[in-house]
Amino acid sequence: MKKVLVVGGAGYVGSHMVKMLLQANMEVVVLDNLSTGHRDAVLGGEFVEGDTADAACLNRVFREHRFDGVIHFASSTQVGESVKKPGDYYRNNFCNTLNLLDAQIRHEVDVFIFSSTAAIFGNPIQVPIDETHPSRPINPYGRSKWMVEQALRDYDVAHGLRSACLRYFNAAGSDPEGELGERHEPESHLIPLVLRAASGRRENISIFGSDYKTRDGTCVRDYVHVVDLCQAHLLALKQLWKGSGSSVYNLGNGQGFTVQEVISTSEEVTGRKIPVVRTQRREGDADTLVAVSNKAERLLGWDPQFSDLGTIIEHAWLYEKKVAGLK
Ligand code: UFG
Repeated sequence: MKKVLVVGGAGYVGSHMVKMLLQANMEVVVLDNLSTGHRDAVLGGEFVEGDTADAACLNRVFREHRFDGVIHFASSTQVGESVKKPGDYYRNNFCNTLNLLDAQIRHEVDVFIFSSTAAIFGNPIQVPIDETHPSRPINPYGRSKWMVEQALRDYDVAHGLRSACLRYFNAAGSDPEGELGERHEPESHLIPLVLRAASGRRENISIFGSDYKTRDGTCVRDYVHVVDLCQAHLLALKQLWKGSGSSVYNLGNGQGFTVQEVISTSEEVTGRKIPVVRTQRREGDADTLVAVSNKAERLLGWDPQFSDLGTIIEHAWLYEKKVAGLK
C-alpha cells in the first residue's frame, strides 16, 4: 500500500485529494496548520496539525512515516494580499516549501507533486496558454510559486528529487457527493460568491469590469473541476512512481467562460435570480486566461470528467445549499 503525505490537505483542493487517495486505497497523512483549512474537511487518514515553517515538526513527520510521495497544496493564495505583504508570501510559499523539500530529501522521499498556478504566466502574450508560454508573473503570489518551480529543477539535478508542477487555471466546483466544498474565509472566487448571492448568503455579486476585450466585456476564465484537478495529481503521482522524470503541466478545460456567462449559467442551475452590481475593474485581472492541457492528456492520460460549466456549478451548488441550509 502506498503512503502519501498531503501538505495542506485540510484546504479546498487538498481535502478533495485526500478523499480521492483514500478511495484509491492509499494511506494518507495530512499536515496542515489550519490557518485556512478545516479539520472536519479531512475525511480520513492521519491528521497532524503543524506548519512547514517548523523544521522539527517536518522531521518528526518524516521520521514517523515512510512516505512514497508528497503532494504540496499549502500556500497563501490571495493575489491582492501578496502585493501588500510580499514577505509573508515569499516566506510561506517559497521558504517553507524549501523546508519541506529539504526534510523529504533528508528522509529519502524522492517524489513531489506541486500545486502551482496559472499566475506564473502573468499577462499572457497569447491564449490559449500552453507549457511553453513565457513565465512572467506580475505579483508576489505568482512569483513565489514560479520560484518554487525553478527551485524544483535544481533539486532534481542536485538531489534526484522528481516532481510534477501542476498549474491550475480556475479551480472550481466541489465533491459531486456534496461532502466537501470551497470554504475560503473570506471568499474571493467568482463561483462560490455567485452561489452565495443565489442562496441569499450575500446580497449580490459584483462584476469587476465590463469593458474588457471579450465577447460581452467581462473577463474570460478557464474553470476546471476540483475532482478533475485531483485526478491529474493522482495520475502525475503514479507516473513518477513508474520512474518518469520531472515535468510541468497546465490544467484547464481549454474553454473559457465570461463572468456574465458564469452568472447566467448559475441562474439556470439554481433556478434563482442573482442580483448583479457592475463595478470597476479589479486591479491585475487579465482579459482572458485559458489553458491548453493537451500535454496532461497525452502524457498522463488525463481525461476530465466534469468539464461542462453547468456541472461544475451544479456540484458547487450542492455544497452551497448544504451550508446555507437549503433543500
Ligand atoms: N470576479 C468578479 N466578481 C467577484 C469575484 C471575481 O467579477 O466578486 C471576476 C474576476 O475579476 C475574474 C473572474 O471573476 O475576472 C474570476 O475571478 P477569481 O477571483 O475567481 O479567479 P482569478 O481568475 O482571479 O484567480 C485564479 C486563481 C488564483 C490565480 C489567478 C491567476 O484563483 O489563485 O487565477 O492565474 F492567481
